[in-house]
Amino acid sequence: MDELVALCKRRGFIYQSSDIYGGLQGVYDFGPLGVELKNNIKRAWWESMVYENDDIEGLDSSILTNPLVLKYSGHEDTFSDPMVDCKSCGLRFRADQVPDMCKKDDLTEPRQFNLMFKTNVGPIDDSESFAYLRPETAQQIFTNFKNVLDSTSRALPFGIAQMGKAFRNEITPRNFIFRVREFEQMELEYFVKPGTDEDIHSSWVQKRLSWWSDQGVPMESIELYDVPNDELAHYSKKTIDIMYKFPHGLEELEGIANRTDFDLGSHSKKQDELNIKSKVIKNKDSNSKLAIQNDNGDWEIPYVIEPSAGVERGFLAILNEAYKIEDLDDGKTRVVLSLRPHLSPVKIAVIPLKKNNYDIVMLSKNIKNNLQKLGMGRVILENTGNIGKSYRKHDEIGTPMCITVDFDSLENSDVTLRDRDTMKQIRIKIDELSNFCVDKIKS
Ligand code: GAP
Repeated sequence: MDELVALCKRRGFIYQSSDIYGGLQGVYDFGPLGVELKNNIKRAWWESMVYENDDIEGLDSSILTNPLVLKYSGHEDTFSDPMVDCKSCGLRFRADQVPDMCKKDDLTEPRQFNLMFKTNVGPIDDSESFAYLRPETAQQIFTNFKNVLDSTSRALPFGIAQMGKAFRNEITPRNFIFRVREFEQMELEYFVKPGTDEDIHSSWVQKRLSWWSDQGVPMESIELYDVPNDELAHYSKKTIDIMYKFPHGLEELEGIANRTDFDLGSHSKKQDELNIKSKVIKNKDSNSKLAIQNDNGDWEIPYVIEPSAGVERGFLAILNEAYKIEDLDDGKTRVVLSLRPHLSPVKIAVIPLKKNNYDIVMLSKNIKNNLQKLGMGRVILENTGNIGKSYRKHDEIGTPMCITVDFDSLENSDVTLRDRDTMKQIRIKIDELSNFCVDKIKS
């Protein structure tokens, strides 16, 4: 973990937020390379969910949330962790995360601490004028269920996918970006006919494993955890957690829950008419029935299967798998980030052999601009004049290809293309670069 943290800071993946004022605990900023990697992970998820499935729509809902949403979702009552104070050191901890230095006798009895952040909305600052920052992206998918259904004319089964920020006032944020107070989730709510839910739940577990494998997180680093009944969230009938061997231990990367009809049922009016099967919260405030009429004209609430992944945890797992220190033939070592090309923050670095040679630099810029237009992601001009140093840097940040432009390039219209993983160099004609690079990035 220490090596990953150091690499992230040194190369501009992740910085401590508000660093110049001593930081803010459990909050991080993503730097120039971090934002690219994060966006690429999110893009890969969005493409696999919304574009590659014919029955999934996208959504981007607000972070500020009406408190009634989180009352009827059950979060006001249950979204809490047990907290203890240590009378010796004066610090607070989540009851299951007390450090060894605190003696049992020094700890207070655990009490529940609600993890939701509140903020004030509007110019009047009183107890009535607050909103929550959403603790999961899921809830506004449920509250928009009818809107999406009506505007897309979908029939069951269908899904709504959303990515974005979620906030939790974690008692003990820790392990770098693993447990933080501000993070992003990638969540799908897949609405199904009751009775088909168990099979569809199992199939989503398999689909999500295959997606993680495509991002470079192999099955050897993963274990599935069938969450026992006494650990299930209040809405869940069954949850399978995808557990990943993080540098600090085996922990949850993604949860795939069968949320039954709890959420749509709890957010609905006239619940008695809706044939609801789960134990919902009685609703006096909703103005909508989040239900569907089945073939017999009876109202029915769909069940929901929810694959829910954390972007930061995915980022950490992907980085951890890609990070390698390799021994070279000359007795030296190199750090290389073997990211899948579609995730690499920089796709191609174009390096002029001489940084002050006008013709070489202009040809390099030209090549860079043409490759940039192909929509592969970021292509950069690396005009340091030091080829060896540039290769080392780009190995370390995971750039799949480096292109060196030299004096021969001016004569022969060709360049040297170096592969990050094999370190092999080939000579290739400039007009063949586009096809070659696009194939490599998409592979
Ligand atoms: N909508 C369901 C839900 O939010 P969750 O298990 O609480 O379920 C889903 O969260 C995912 O969000 C987790 O598997 C994890 O990847 C990520 N996550 C949750 N809390 C987090 C935190 N404090 N920091 C970073 N990621 C977090």
